[in-house]
Amino acid sequence: MGFPENFLWGGATAANQCEGGYQEGGRGLANVDVTPHGKERFPVMLGTRKMLKLEDGCYYPALKGIDFYHHYKEDIALFAEMGFKTFRLSIAWSRIFPNGDEKEPNEDGLRFYEDVFLECRKYGIEPLVTITHFDCPIHLIREYGGWKSYELVELYKRLVTTLFTRYKGLVHYWLTFNEINMILHLPFMGAGLVFEEGEDQEKAKYQSVHHELIASAWAVKLAHEIDPENKVGCMMAAGDYYPYCCMPEDVWEAKKQDRANMMFIDVQARGYYPNYAKKMFERMSLKLSLSDTDEKVMRENTVDFIAFSYYSSRCVTTRDDVKETTGNAFRGTKNPYLEASEWGWQIDALGLRITMNSLYDRYQKPLFIVENGLGAKDELIADGAGSFTVNDDYRIEYLRAHIQAMKAAVDEDGVELWGYTPWGCIDLVSASTGEMSKRYGFIYVDLDDAGEGTLARYKKKSFGWYKKVIASNGEDLE
Ligand code: BG6
Repeated sequence: MGFPENFLWGGATAANQCEGGYQEGGRGLANVDVTPHGKERFPVMLGTRKMLKLEDGCYYPALKGIDFYHHYKEDIALFAEMGFKTFRLSIAWSRIFPNGDEKEPNEDGLRFYEDVFLECRKYGIEPLVTITHFDCPIHLIREYGGWKSYELVELYKRLVTTLFTRYKGLVHYWLTFNEINMILHLPFMGAGLVFEEGEDQEKAKYQSVHHELIASAWAVKLAHEIDPENKVGCMMAAGDYYPYCCMPEDVWEAKKQDRANMMFIDVQARGYYPNYAKKMFERMSLKLSLSDTDEKVMRENTVDFIAFSYYSSRCVTTRDDVKETTGNAFRGTKNPYLEASEWGWQIDALGLRITMNSLYDRYQKPLFIVENGLGAKDELIADGAGSFTVNDDYRIEYLRAHIQAMKAAVDEDGVELWGYTPWGCIDLVSASTGEMSKRYGFIYVDLDDAGEGTLARYKKKSFGWYKKVIASNGEDLE
């Protein structure tokens, strides 16, 4: 019993939060580059503050990331030392097509990822590639309005065809859109959406969702045609909603919130919109056009597996005497039974088992946990051997509890799980806050919130712990 022998242990990152090198190798500017640190960050991510170029006086953490662009060999060697079987990373669209709509791809960008994949393979690490992790070339936002336009489906098809063809045999695991449901919460980040004064934001979001869902189905089709070995997953920001109390109104509210997230996966995993979504579009007077070809592609090309991020369960109520949580793109109610991280993210390991069961019951497809972890402030201390380390017992405790929960889901509930890639296996820039000080990694990166530091990498205590976990296939969690 326990985890299957070929279980994919590893770690996860995204280009926009670690790569840097934003002007190198012919790369173009993207939405993620112009998302600043500081008080403008949320309005920009929401699409209500238009910032389509780098502005004076702002600090943009994605431009440097943790400079994975120049450190990837060193970083992958550290992942290999931990025993990673897989490494999740994303492609920066603007490295492959700097403007997004060129006819021919940028060879330098293609070569960069090829080198990264070859470096992974050198150690027997299977790359797990997110095609789009919150990034969209700026030119596509200026010229087409981002994913509001159907044109992006065509351009995405060009992107994925290029990737599947070039990396055939090097990559077998793909995710189409990172946290596709995030479009509802942070639309500039999720789909390059910027709203005009008076624009119907809800309609614009669902129009864009529709285009991403069509594009995702095309990606599944093309991936399978180009290499039948390819496995393609959807990816959602998961975490079941709990009703705050057993009032039927709260239970109903929790169900509605779950559906708002599951709707995406319902389409990607089943091939058509569920009736509750069609009814919602009717109420919104939103007519989504779907050609016969696209409908057929959607219906016939469902995903091979369900990938998701899990940081926390969520809680809702219809009562107005109950406190809200802070610090998360998903607003909700404070669950009085849970502790929270320094950023207010509630910690609920059993919630992972509950969420896994909900997803598996609903879709009956293999799951892949592609993000999980604790964002915390770390203190770098001397390790007594001339280097530095972090005693991150709090991180080990969080991960241990979550691995135990996922093990119970596999062992006791029979959930099929392909792998586990905790988020930010190496410290990187936080997506929500733009901070470096919100750290998730097994590897500490010497860089602060203002972008100052040597970029040196140091192993934390959790590095050795996770190495043991992998070596024992999840049996040794002490
Ligand atoms: C997910 C994203 O929302 O959570 C990642 O896919 C992100 O990009 C991660 O970094 C953790 O969130 P944060 O805001 O702590 O970086």
